[in-house]
Amino acid sequence: MKYTFRSPGRINLIGEHTDYNGGYVLPAAINKYTHITFEESDHFEAYSKYFDQRVKFSLDEKKENVEWLNYVKGALLYTSKHVKKKINPWKIEILGDLPLGAGLSSSASLMVGIVYGLCRVENLEMSRRQVANVAHKAENGFVGVNCGIMDQYIVAMGKKNTFMLIDTLTKGIEYIHAERFPKMIIIDSGVKHKLASGEYNKRRVECGQVEKIVGVRLRQMSLDTVEKNKKTLGDTLYKRAFHVVSENDRVLKAIEAIKKSHWEDLGRLLYASHESLRNFYEVSTEEMDFIIGELKKNEIIYGARMIGGGFGGSILALSRREPSEEISKIRAKYESKFDAKMKVYVVTTSEGVREIQRA
Ligand code: GLA
Repeated sequence: MKYTFRSPGRINLIGEHTDYNGGYVLPAAINKYTHITFEESDHFEAYSKYFDQRVKFSLDEKKENVEWLNYVKGALLYTSKHVKKKINPWKIEILGDLPLGAGLSSSASLMVGIVYGLCRVENLEMSRRQVANVAHKAENGFVGVNCGIMDQYIVAMGKKNTFMLIDTLTKGIEYIHAERFPKMIIIDSGVKHKLASGEYNKRRVECGQVEKIVGVRLRQMSLDTVEKNKKTLGDTLYKRAFHVVSENDRVLKAIEAIKKSHWEDLGRLLYASHESLRNFYEVSTEEMDFIIGELKKNEIIYGARMIGGGFGGSILALSRREPSEEISKIRAKYESKFDAKMKVYVVTTSEGVREIQRA
């Protein structure tokens, strides 16, 4: 018997670098997927079409030299630990059209897909929320990436035609309906800097320092408090705090704009978020800033910003219609200025992880 699962990637409409600060995020699952097939076997084996690599492994605590395999192994291992049961060996195949390293959460897509799939094939009782939490723990604990909960939550619990407001302080979720939403264009800058994960962890530490100095969680901090503490915080910590506090406020404003279908307002919030990520949180790149600058010159674009952890990856643009000509022009300029290839995807919202075939 073969069981196939489809696990989506995600975009984050707004609320960047807030999910490890008890803040708000507003992601959606998208129609770019990882497909994972489980087949009964007498040993553990995984094949990744992305890397065209097949590996046999055992389910022990050892990290593997093959990097992508650790995502698979970690997800299996942590599920088994969570349910306190030994699991059967499986042959697992991974393919799909979700690009890797583009800031669309391919790692959460894979890990949530494996945890969810394993629960189905082994008849393990786990809610979608638990699936997300186990995948998150596995990415932190086994793979060693200190990410927040946004990606796993949206991959596990996303719904078509909605964005999911996650209050990362209470872990509460609320679906915000968004039909007749502007076209969502993903522009992958084709550049991902090596320092990404180190800088990500550095930002987390800086935010912790802010909270320690001010004595309030960033979520509860007002911009007034940030301003009052400007001197004590010093330039860098002040800027980090300013971004997180103002970004939380932008998420709430974005929800109002969606509810009223005020797309111009929503677009302005996206541009403002990008400015803040660039100037205050300092996680943008020259390449991404260039693309944003070019998008701004086009009337048909409501707004755009970098999404995900930063230091490369993708931009999300909201557009009145498919901007084919406009994008071609930007691409030509971009590729003559930078040594990088731009990739463009038009995406829609989608459902969270699910089983799609049993044969
Ligand atoms: C990465 C992490 C998320 C989140 C974003 C920044 O995508 O995996 O948890 O922190 O960066 O918003």
